[in-house]
Amino acid sequence: MRVVVLGTAAGGGLPQWNCACELCERSREGDPAVLPRLQDCVAVSATGRNWYLLNASPDLRAQIIATPELTPGPGRRQTPVRGALLTDAELDHTLGLALLREGPLTVWAPPPVLDAVAVRPVVAHYQHWDWYPAEGVFRLDEGRLECAVFPLSGKRPRYARDAADAPDWVVAYRLTDVTTGGSLVYAPCLARWPEGFDEFVSGATHGLLDGTFLGPDEMSRTTGRDDQVGMGHLPITESLPLLGSTRWHYTHLNNTNPVVARDCAARGRIEAAGAAIAEDGARFDL
Ligand code: MLT
Ligand code: MN
Ligand code: ZN
Repeated sequence: MRVVVLGTAAGGGLPQWNCACELCERSREGDPAVLPRLQDCVAVSATGRNWYLLNASPDLRAQIIATPELTPGPGRRQTPVRGALLTDAELDHTLGLALLREGPLTVWAPPPVLDAVAVRPVVAHYQHWDWYPAEGVFRLDEGRLECAVFPLSGKRPRYARDAADAPDWVVAYRLTDVTTGGSLVYAPCLARWPEGFDEFVSGATHGLLDGTFLGPDEMSRTTGRDDQVGMGHLPITESLPLLGSTRWHYTHLNNTNPVVARDCAARGRIEAAGAAIAEDGARFDL
């Protein structure tokens, strides 16, 4: 399975359009230690013929154009982008679907997300799309990619505040290439390390994990906001001691997170624990 990391920033990206914090300023000014980051999104394929997006970021047009694997052709309107798997209904993970409205596309998402995605009724006017519930285990890519779903939390986007409670508003995926045995866990929104998650990730080759925040009081220190816990992102300092043998890469990095800078001292601690900071454009063959 080939994995292309299309973006590693949380909602807003780096720099964020309305933010003049130190890290956004450094990336805006071209500081080589703080490279710009596009919003969290990944592309995967086992056959190389069919590609599946993990989440659909608002930066998707630029991400697809920058990725040779996703180039259209040879037919005039032929694209290897077959589908998208959504981990949640947040705008930074779903707005990109609107950019693919010329479709068609197949989307898998946990049932509450299928009902909530704000752009679903919009794209329905442009092309026929197929929408499937992401539950249990299913196969993609001519049967070569096995996809397992793990419900993580009931955290829903603000625009869906009044929708019904469900345990799978946010999920993780484990994709396994049944030919090579390589596997990738994708969990960019992890509120806590839930019971059963260790078993779900056990033996996975690579993982992309929620790295939104480095520490628990980052939002209050940098922006004065006191709602960090409600945002549903376990800080790196709290997930780091829980990592097993999977090679984890932290992604969905908020622009408040000092680890977006290559010269951040905390990177040493993360690397000592066997983990890494994900980078835009990284590729893994699993
Ligand atoms: C999140 O990851 O918590 C959401 O994307 C926050 C947001 O963009 O409103
Ligand atoms: Mn987000
Ligand atoms: Zn900022």
